[in-house]
Amino acid sequence: NGTGIDIADSALADSVQQGIDRVERLLHDSVQSEFEFATRTSLHLVEAGGKRFRPLFTLLAAHFGDPHADEVIKSAAVVELIHLATLYHDDVMDEATMRRGASSANARWDNSVAILTGDFLFARASALIADLGAEAVRSMAGTFELLVTGQMRETVGLGADEDAVDSYLRVVYEKTGSLIATAGRFGAWFSGADEKTVASLERIGRLVGIGFQISDDIIDIASPADESGKTPGTDLREGVRTLPMLYALADPDTDPRLRDLLSRPLSDDDEVREALDLLRESNGLARSRATLDSYAGDAREELASLPDAPARDALAALVDYVVARTR
Ligand code: FPP
Ligand code: MG
Ligand code: MG
Repeated sequence: NGTGIDIADSALADSVQQGIDRVERLLHDSVQSEFEFATRTSLHLVEAGGKRFRPLFTLLAAHFGDPHADEVIKSAAVVELIHLATLYHDDVMDEATMRRGASSANARWDNSVAILTGDFLFARASALIADLGAEAVRSMAGTFELLVTGQMRETVGLGADEDAVDSYLRVVYEKTGSLIATAGRFGAWFSGADEKTVASLERIGRLVGIGFQISDDIIDIASPADESGKTPGTDLREGVRTLPMLYALADPDTDPRLRDLLSRPLSDDDEVREALDLLRESNGLARSRATLDSYAGDAREELASLPDAPARDALAALVDYVVARTR
């Protein structure tokens, strides 16, 4: 699998690989259009070497029931298509030029092409969800709404009497945790697992998803582009205050120069570099890693309520991966 998560049980590893291969074929089939340009711009990110973290999570969640059910594969593909669609839109909003080690679609073509490609993927995802029934459509509609409100909250910034860290965690749940929670819910549900297991995998998805975004925000500061496949400092350029920045600002000993740099979006490359250096020296990263550890701990606790099975151990490895990818 693309994450490099080690699945110790070889029968489980084979079963997951079969599932991933089927999801991969469905993703490719789903973007075929007689209008070849739409297929080409869609394949740009489909083939850009994503980790397929969400489908992997869906497939692991499905191993508490029948993991080979068609609905499991379809729901995993739906989640990845929705995720890819939001990335096309996100890179426009963030004015990002790089994604998954390649040019972003907005950089390679333009904003209109990127937005329309996202919309095309939503259209194709919607057609697949229709096969999963009205309850799945309703569930995904709710998730969709959270993705949008999370992104809107991030765009408009903090309300008058909101706590910055609380607001950050809410945004992170909405824009990232909600879809990963749905990935877990769909996997368990469409495999025929009982309601308790479904609810548990949804909660694990929420915790892992929040952790995943915190690690993404640490990576934006701590990791060079050749490791992350993205341009470091994108959040600084957009003026988006992520957890490491909020923690640095909360520390009375933080350099006043860093406070000044975090008070506005940065467009100057030298200022971005300077802010990154100061953030790397601040205690914001260490505190963010501690918060990430705490979400991972809660996820592990929730895992303990699942039946003892190889998939449970693989999910524990997935939690470890979310923590470890920032180091
Ligand atoms: C990436 O965050 C962005 C998201 C996880 C959510 C994006 C959501 C939208 C664009 C709204 C959904 C739109 C529609 C039309 C439903 P990031 O910018 O922090 O991560 P990055 O480092 O991967 O760019
Ligand atoms: Mg972005
Ligand atoms: Mg963004």
